[in-house]
Amino acid sequence: MRNKVYKNTLENEYSKSSSLEHRRSLGQFFTPYQVAKFMAEWILRHPKKQMTILDPATGFGIFERALTKLKGKKKLSFDLWEIDNDIANKLKFITKELDLDSYIIQKDFLKNGWNKKFDGIIANPPYFKHHFINQKEKVYQEICLRTYFKFSIQTNVYCWFLIKSINLLADGGRLAFIVPSEFLNANYGEKIKDYLKQVGIVLHLISIDFKKNVFDNALTTSIIILAEKNNKKHNYINFYSVHNLTELKSLKTFLEKHSKKTYKITELDFKIKWRNYFNGNGDKKLPSSVVPVSVLGKFSRGIATGANDYFTLSKSEVAEYKLSTKYLVPCITKTIHAKDISFDQEKFEELKESNKKVYLFNGESANDSYGARYIDKGKHQGVHHRYLTRNRKPWYALEKRPVAQIWVNVFGRSGLKFIWNTSHCVNLTCFHAFYPSDIGKNYLDIFFLYLHSKVAKELFDREKREYGNGLGKFEPNDLNKSMMVDFHLLENQDRSILSKLQRDFLQSHKERRSMILEKADKILENLLK
Ligand SMILES: C[S@@+](CC[C@H](N)C(=O)[O-])C[C@H]1O[C@@H](n2cnc3c(N)ncnc32)[C@H](O)[C@@H]1O
Repeated sequence: MRNKVYKNTLENEYSKSSSLEHRRSLGQFFTPYQVAKFMAEWILRHPKKQMTILDPATGFGIFERALTKLKGKKKLSFDLWEIDNDIANKLKFITKELDLDSYIIQKDFLKNGWNKKFDGIIANPPYFKHHFINQKEKVYQEICLRTYFKFSIQTNVYCWFLIKSINLLADGGRLAFIVPSEFLNANYGEKIKDYLKQVGIVLHLISIDFKKNVFDNALTTSIIILAEKNNKKHNYINFYSVHNLTELKSLKTFLEKHSKKTYKITELDFKIKWRNYFNGNGDKKLPSSVVPVSVLGKFSRGIATGANDYFTLSKSEVAEYKLSTKYLVPCITKTIHAKDISFDQEKFEELKESNKKVYLFNGESANDSYGARYIDKGKHQGVHHRYLTRNRKPWYALEKRPVAQIWVNVFGRSGLKFIWNTSHCVNLTCFHAFYPSDIGKNYLDIFFLYLHSKVAKELFDREKREYGNGLGKFEPNDLNKSMMVDFHLLENQDRSILSKLQRDFLQSHKERRSMILEKADKILENLLK
């Protein structure tokens, strides 16, 4: 047993033998031992010789194992919450083997126990969306009442663990949490950030973006939160970024040597994405001349069919079912089908001839017997019971979205990818579409060029959501909210130059494009001065 305790063997064995579905339903993703040790060091900096410790989501007790290894002469007594019976039973065995002074509570942490206070609280809480929280309304009401603070009901479960734990910290107590970074950038997170500012106990926020995932199967970047409850509130927070597990070898060295950005709490704006404070963008104030992208139009999500396999068809499938082009809409279904910066009718024909799925079945206009038969086929396959289709009337109705001239790839490693579309294709959810306002219609060409510029990249980056493995994601509203240069400030001549550059840009080979963008950037940067 002892040789398994100071690494992740117990967790790995469990992950292999239990279903991913079960683990997801209880947010069972485990902390690497080295990270647990790093966090345990923070807790043990408490001067008390005898400490009470809370772990509200214990799993196999990785933190308790690390604390026990490092505790020296300190005496620790643990309150350990674990809702999963199988895990709790193993935990009993582990704590006995290690001779821990512990009390295991086999209940839901969010529904019980508000009275006891702790000198140390350490956790990797479960992560899942608010829809899946058991008695979500009750949990939400209780936390708001106990904290005298109005959070968002859409808060992810891990934030409830954090907020409740903060309220169970004794004076002088220390808290170490590892959580997904989502709350720093998500809408519900504004309230959480506001609350963290107000309680004034957080000292260090460490953003982890390892090349390998910290939580085996959960695609997410994480934040370590280190907090300390003194009689005076802290008036600053340190922001750190780490990309490699070895950087977390020793807390002492880390806090002394690792580069950081320090912000006064009063300077932190809970309404902006806090990722900007880690990369230093929080310092950069935007010039007053910028305007929101939404002035020029709106990015919207592409068409969600709810069953692409059924609703999209290749040329041979169209022939097989004898469907008429009268009720087939040309469409783009995958980002790899539009590889370059432009997509036209010719490229559509190529996809069609190579038998890719390029037609969307519009059942509402299908007024011949073949169309009716295809609808029957869908019913026979149970397509009408799918999550999206069962709420539509009729189930085969399509979302109405016009063809857009600008598409953007929503999920990518190399940043946003914009495509100039002159085909008749509508886009499915693989792309967001841009629909210009009346003002935007006048600038659509140079807007497309702008979207590729360095200036745009920097401004968009402020709104990016980050996932693990370097994946960035933008929801349509992140793009709409992003700031951009104000084209009204362009002199006529610069306006004409940009239009010409845009035409060249579309016709040039990759090598020449960067030269064109450099020229465009010079003009665009002037608008920011
Ligand atoms: C993310 S895992 C972390 C486990 C361990 N502390 C670690 O870091 O490796 C969260 C654990 O909390 C448990 N859990 C989930 N919901 C819970 C709840 N409402 N109350 C108590 N425990 C819960 C899960 O079964 C899981 O073992």
